[in-house]
Amino acid sequence: MIILGIESSCDESSVCLIEDKNILAHLTYSQIEEHRAWGGVVPEIAARAHLDKLPLLLQKVLDAYQKKIDAIAATAGPGLIGGVMVGFNMAKAMSVAMGVPFYGINHLEGHILIARLFASIPVPFLALLVSGGHSQFVVVRGIGTYEVIGQTLDDSCGECFDKTAKMLGLFPSGKSIEERAKLGDSAAYKLPMPRPHDKDCHFSFSGIKNAARLLIEEHQITEDPQKINDFCASFQDTMAKILVSRASYALNNASGCHDFVICGGVAANTYIQERFEHFSKEHHVNLHVAPCAFCTDNGAMIAYACYERILHHIPPSPLDMLPRPRWPLDTEK
Ligand code: KG4
Ligand code: ZN
Repeated sequence: MIILGIESSCDESSVCLIEDKNILAHLTYSQIEEHRAWGGVVPEIAARAHLDKLPLLLQKVLDAYQKKIDAIAATAGPGLIGGVMVGFNMAKAMSVAMGVPFYGINHLEGHILIARLFASIPVPFLALLVSGGHSQFVVVRGIGTYEVIGQTLDDSCGECFDKTAKMLGLFPSGKSIEERAKLGDSAAYKLPMPRPHDKDCHFSFSGIKNAARLLIEEHQITEDPQKINDFCASFQDTMAKILVSRASYALNNASGCHDFVICGGVAANTYIQERFEHFSKEHHVNLHVAPCAFCTDNGAMIAYACYERILHHIPPSPLDMLPRPRWPLDTEK
């Protein structure tokens, strides 16, 4: 089965062609340079860049593999709506022109399922999804059957990385913090653990963002490159501790799950991955993380989620389906 997947919900324009579980072609254009001057993703610029780049990526992929396509999938949300509309509408139009089914995919489902392209992960399993817009624990009971058992009460984990990076003058955010942290001392600054007395699997990141701002100002951290390195190491270590501590409560609420997936852009962080390796050994669960390029946004996760849906006899999306800026994972429509 050959599936074309398109991702355009944030700042990566990405197109992927898969044949069952094999990736035939996967092209991603990162819009980092378009957004650098602004220190963060500007929705209008992102939408225009998708409009500019996606047709060329599609042309390259389709020219390289002149195969009969069985289905076309695109991110239908959640995400920056201007960008989502670009890829979503291209996919719909192509499906009409080629006479093949169209699948509007939930971006979060793509993040969670892509781990199964690389390893055999039986359901039910527990997933921690940590991205720019989301931080949640999800019990995957089956394809299309997701139970969100914990989530952030305010900001997302990725947003906390992004805002802190911006205060430090670093871009692109999470990745730069990880790079600078390698050169720093994680014991240099003490950041607070949020909600220390709440024994549940919900997150709160707004307090740590605020604490970061106060520390950066108080210690004039931006004025000394070594202070920036130390601060990045301390911040990253605290973020890892928060994620790991909430994961134990999540496992308590995920009976029958022996497999644990971490996914989304923040899961690309190798320090956080290492902390979860220890955690998984301690808790006797099998940890799964897709390769870094498949943690951050990519077209393969959209094509692959579509493949899983087809295998599980889930029907295509109607052509009048509308894209959704917000789309909780536990609601199908
Ligand atoms: O999944 P993703 O690519 O896009 C969304 O769906 O939001 O996640 C992007 C988020 C951003 O907040 C970015 O700063 C963060 O993932 N991120 C990282 C790393 N790479 C990306 N955070 C920490 N360490 C990284 N290496
Ligand atoms: Zn994403």
